[in-house]
Amino acid sequence: MDCITSALAGAFRSKRLVYRAIEDNDADKSFLYTQLQLDPATSALSDPSIHRPSNRKESDQWVDILVSNPLLSVMICLPGDSLKDFVPIGYISIKGLPMYQRRASLSIQIAPAYQNRGYGSEVINWAMDWSFKWGGLHSLTLGASLYNERAVAVYRKAGFRQEGISKEAVYRNRKWWDTVQMAILEQEWEALRGTKN
Ligand SMILES: CC(C)(COP(=O)(O)OP(=O)(O)OC[C@H]1O[C@@H](n2cnc3c(N)ncnc32)[C@H](O)[C@@H]1OP(=O)(O)O)[C@@H](O)C(=O)NCCC(=O)NCCS
Repeated sequence: MDCITSALAGAFRSKRLVYRAIEDNDADKSFLYTQLQLDPATSALSDPSIHRPSNRKESDQWVDILVSNPLLSVMICLPGDSLKDFVPIGYISIKGLPMYQRRASLSIQIAPAYQNRGYGSEVINWAMDWSFKWGGLHSLTLGASLYNERAVAVYRKAGFRQEGISKEAVYRNRKWWDTVQMAILEQEWEALRGTKN
């Protein structure tokens, strides 16, 4: 296989994981609702909106937005022999803001049973590679509340740098928390990977 063909063939895989589109079907909607949205910590750590239980309708509306994202929304899966055997463990989405500036923001959730096993770091590195090899992006950004120390540690280790802080932007449990904006530029990713390709 020549170089571009093997790069195309391997573009939706990382060391231990595979990535497939989120389907507009009950299986994916149920997974995203029961494994992610229904877990109060997982959903609240990735969403600064009011901390209250979300219902299936709200979750499905959120999935509809993910599915119609023109850039990238994928299920993070453990591989199987074929697509139908892939085991979903979470999702990652990269959303253009706006796309003509080639800048996009990332969001990720991994189901509690699979957290802290190194999968998140693997996914973030894959998402960086996808953004600059296939997505045509110039910068990849994200936001996190500073109480989400694990997520910030994962992003920092992967190469994201702090761009700014919004002071006391999120109210949780009788406390105001800062949020951090982080980003990685295309040329910083090239330097990290030691490549211009
Ligand atoms: C954030 C998330 C994607 C990270 O994925 P993960 O698979 O759990 O993370 P990993 O196992 O790859 O890495 C965790 C790292 O954080 C470190 N860590 C864990 N808890 C930490 C804490 N309280 N403070 C600092 N570092 C911490 C671990 O030591 C590990 O570092 P290492 O790679 O140097 O060993 C995942 O936990 C998740 O989905 N959380 C809920 C939703 C969420 O927070 N989404 C992100 C919103 S910004």
